[in-house]
Amino acid sequence: MSTKFPDGFLWGGATADFQYEGGFNEGKRGTLTTDYVTDGSYEQPRQITIKLSDGTLSTVQNRTSLPEGSVAWFHEGQYYPSHQAVDFYHHYQEDIALMAEMGFKTFRFSICWTRIFPTGDEECANEEGLKFYEDVVDECLKYNIEPLITICHDEIPSYLADTYDGWSSRHTIDCYLKLCEALFTRLKSKVKYWLTFNELNAVRGYSMMGTHSADNQTHYQAMHHVFLASALAVKMGHEMMPDAMFGTMYALSAIYPATCKPSDIRAAYNARRQSLFFSDVMMRGYYPSYSEKIFKDKGVTIKKEVGDDEILRLYPLDYLSFSYYRSTIVSAETEIDIMGGDANPYLETTPWGWPIDPEGLRYVLNEVYDRYQKPLFVVENGLGAVDEIGEDGTINDDYRIDYLTDHIMEMQKAICEDKVECLGYTMWGCIDLVSLSTGEMKKRYGFVYVDMDDKGNGTLKRTKKKSFDWYKKVIATNGEDLSK
Ligand code: BG6
Repeated sequence: MSTKFPDGFLWGGATADFQYEGGFNEGKRGTLTTDYVTDGSYEQPRQITIKLSDGTLSTVQNRTSLPEGSVAWFHEGQYYPSHQAVDFYHHYQEDIALMAEMGFKTFRFSICWTRIFPTGDEECANEEGLKFYEDVVDECLKYNIEPLITICHDEIPSYLADTYDGWSSRHTIDCYLKLCEALFTRLKSKVKYWLTFNELNAVRGYSMMGTHSADNQTHYQAMHHVFLASALAVKMGHEMMPDAMFGTMYALSAIYPATCKPSDIRAAYNARRQSLFFSDVMMRGYYPSYSEKIFKDKGVTIKKEVGDDEILRLYPLDYLSFSYYRSTIVSAETEIDIMGGDANPYLETTPWGWPIDPEGLRYVLNEVYDRYQKPLFVVENGLGAVDEIGEDGTINDDYRIDYLTDHIMEMQKAICEDKVECLGYTMWGCIDLVSLSTGEMKKRYGFVYVDMDDKGNGTLKRTKKKSFDWYKKVIATNGEDLSK
């Protein structure tokens, strides 16, 4: 049996604009909801300062709702990591050259919506924004790196959030499609792989969906609009680019029952269903029958217009992409939380408490391939860790190499032995960037170290870590040589 990854397997790395790009005040870029999210830490969640209707300032936690009549507000003296991030905006040539040196076959990055449409509501796209992304794409193509574009990664223009309540409104579908049309028109001869959205089964609340309320009714109605927007983007994309492939990204860390008690097994099954609901709709093209019970339990009624079901049915996704970082255990007694849950006694955890479970990646690859029988793409996987620079200036991140080796070996088994079709693997945060959940810089993922601390101080100098040469060899041997 061959243990070789398929020819053309797309090895690479992944980033997201608000964690990586910066250039907040440049190129006529408008404000995103994520621009209001502060830094934080493992113990202290990220927050959003809000201005209440009586003019006083208060705070809410990120991923939650904003009280009625309040708006997100910049608080003087507060640090907002997305504004500078690690300044890919000014370092893209240097960064892509480093990716090319590692032999990247693909680079996944996301579009900052407000760079193209500063409020989201303009009629015409902002040329400076389009030019920036075309330059990034051209830089990739110069090195034969296939661009993999996430059109929208966990964010929305703050104008659309504050004026239309974000994805609560069907108007946001039209705004999103304008963004797609501008991107497809400009990049159609250069970009084949697209992702319409990121981690749809994990986004929630104001910063990610632009909704002021985070209750179930608002959330699932907004999600219905996202489903339609994605399906219509697939339709438009296929019409404009017959060879292009469209996916969406889901957070698919494995979910296990805590014990073999039947009620725990059912709880785990239900938790998985709630997570796979989003990809079920978008991969199969219809709301699954089990969603009736989920909506009944949550008190949700989806308002559909005539033709909505037809749109979902006609334009499903071409491939499924997902992030895999960890697994979670679920029991009948615990609340379902796909990024939390009880500790698994069989697994070690990362410094940020995420269970390390390489076998879970093989499990998930098989699970979702069995379910959909369409190509998969592992577009995020990696280890967030504290990296120390040695006295000689080197960074020995053996722990990262170990984590990645173990996960790649399991992916190899899924592809080579279990015959799962997988298009590629993009390691998350290939150049160090800001953490999504905590807003910290010290939670680093990259092959390349960026000199910047949690408050944005530093030279932004890029330094290769030990894992840089290791990944270069992995790619050069198409995954055959994983040795250190
Ligand atoms: C995924 C997101 O959830 O996980 C990324 O798509 C994120 O944006 C990544 O950065 C890792 O999470 P964190 O919180 O460690 O940055």
